[in-house]
Amino acid sequence: MIQLIYVSQHKSLSFQEAQQILNNSFAKNKTLDMGGVLIYAEGHFIQCLEGDDTLIEETFKKIKKDTRHENIVEIAKDKIEQRSFDGWNMSLVNERGFNSIVKKYCDNETFNPYFMSKETILTLLQEITKVM
Ligand SMILES: Cc1cc2nc3c(=O)[nH]c(=O)nc-3n(C[C@H](O)[C@H](O)[C@H](O)COP(=O)(O)O)c2cc1C
Repeated sequence: MIQLIYVSQHKSLSFQEAQQILNNSFAKNKTLDMGGVLIYAEGHFIQCLEGDDTLIEETFKKIKKDTRHENIVEIAKDKIEQRSFDGWNMSLVNERGFNSIVKKYCDNETFNPYFMSKETILTLLQEITKVM
């Protein structure tokens, strides 16, 4: 099993577009027993995918080709024995009032997950999933 974390950007995603990405991902990942988290916050997607190595690699190949986001940067890919996240979680942070959590991870009011370590991203995602 592997855990893959990446960050990407979409500066002007409509609520409907974001909702569609989240809903489709939820449906697909569930059938493939892939878990993790997908959040959209301050113009950035942060996604952690957990599951079978090949399935994750194949899904990430598709995600990288998806024109609905850009500047896709892999933060970490590790072999894991146990999942960090239960099932599949996702959230539009801006829509769900998690801004207070995201604010804690801002530097000078700027949210820039590209500069965060894997550990910091995992802590942020854990914090968000706890209140989902
Ligand atoms: C930010 C973002 C996250 C995505 N996450 C997933 C995902 O977790 N699982 C998934 O199947 N597709 C995800 N997608 C959609 C894929 O990029 C792609 O559209 C989809 O897998 C196409 O599947 P198909 O080739 O089977 O139609 C995501 C897209 C974006 C923009």
